[in-house]
Amino acid sequence: MQIKRICVLGGTGFVGRHLVTRLANNGYHIKVLTRHSQKHRDISILPGIEIAEADIKTPGMLLENFFGYDAVINLVGILYERSGQQFRSIHVDLPRNILEACRTVGIKRLLHMSALRASANQGPSRYLFSKGEGEQLVMQAKNPGVTCFKPSVIFAPDDKFYNRFANVLKTMPIFPIVCPDAKFAPVYVGNVVHAFEIALERETTIGKSYELCGPHIYTLREIIEDIIRMLDLKRPIISLPDKLSLLQAKILEKFKIFTTDNYLSLQIDSICACDGLKELGITPYSVNGIMSMYFSGKKTQKMRYDRLRTIARRD
Ligand SMILES: NC(=O)c1ccc[n+]([C@@H]2O[C@H](COP(=O)([O-])OP(=O)(O)OC[C@H]3O[C@@H](n4cnc5c(N)ncnc54)[C@H](OP(=O)(O)O)[C@@H]3O)[C@@H](O)[C@H]2O)c1
Repeated sequence: MQIKRICVLGGTGFVGRHLVTRLANNGYHIKVLTRHSQKHRDISILPGIEIAEADIKTPGMLLENFFGYDAVINLVGILYERSGQQFRSIHVDLPRNILEACRTVGIKRLLHMSALRASANQGPSRYLFSKGEGEQLVMQAKNPGVTCFKPSVIFAPDDKFYNRFANVLKTMPIFPIVCPDAKFAPVYVGNVVHAFEIALERETTIGKSYELCGPHIYTLREIIEDIIRMLDLKRPIISLPDKLSLLQAKILEKFKIFTTDNYLSLQIDSICACDGLKELGITPYSVNGIMSMYFSGKKTQKMRYDRLRTIARRD
């Protein structure tokens, strides 16, 4: 099955940008569907990528945009619900509509992004439960050929996870950690998008789900300690006991920084039972090399700016 033209939903996000850049560089023609084409104009500068504004919740829009394409990749996902943006509509109804549109248009391949520990049977949170339902729905399909990916938290210099903690750590004199013992196996975004590309090339991946994890397991407390070390900060941290973690989640929920549902997601470790990267022949990168270099690069840059500011004031 020769795949050349791919329509990507969620291609403007963190993972999406890495994925469409990789695929376009390797000769695929990519169309990225977005709600805000003006905001993401920079993506279409890359050769081989076009961007189209579309209301993906409208099935007719999916049909229109899938026509003439060989494969569809769905990366759309949310961590928080807002008005007009519910877990069920994004994680269940959208995949169902995508599947139907793929069948109508005759799309051959569908790659679907789920999440590690997502389960339609026992998801501890509404996020993981809805992700699990969406995954189950697409994996039951015989047509098109579906491959699903279930990563732990994904890291890179432009990620939201490490960078958000780094930004908060820089501003707070003391850091209370919610669910400090929750475990993660952070996986590098380059490894994740490589897995997607392999799936497009290998028909043997059809009907399979791949759990994607990095080489090391860390508790949330260890991750925070690592970031503090990489940033060369001195920050006392406090591990919150479970009841206080829940209380903190309820308070932060008002500001949409962290929600009770996020707290529930952390009740189950985000670590792999099967090594999907190994199965696909990919060697995983570890957090420390990549993120230490990134954070120390930022530190050097800041020192350079501070020095320039001092010199400028001297003049
Ligand atoms: N990042 C991680 O650590 C991680 C870990 C496990 C699983 N995942 C899964 O991987 C996928 C990609 O994650 P990401 O971190 O790249 O996400 P992201 O940066 O938040 O990007 C989300 C994308 O979804 C699109 N989208 C379309 N309709 C949306 C709507 N109604 N609300 C919000 N977004 C909408 C956005 O496109 P426009 O705004 O241009 O329309 C955007 O490109 C998600 O399914 C996520 O659940 C991520």
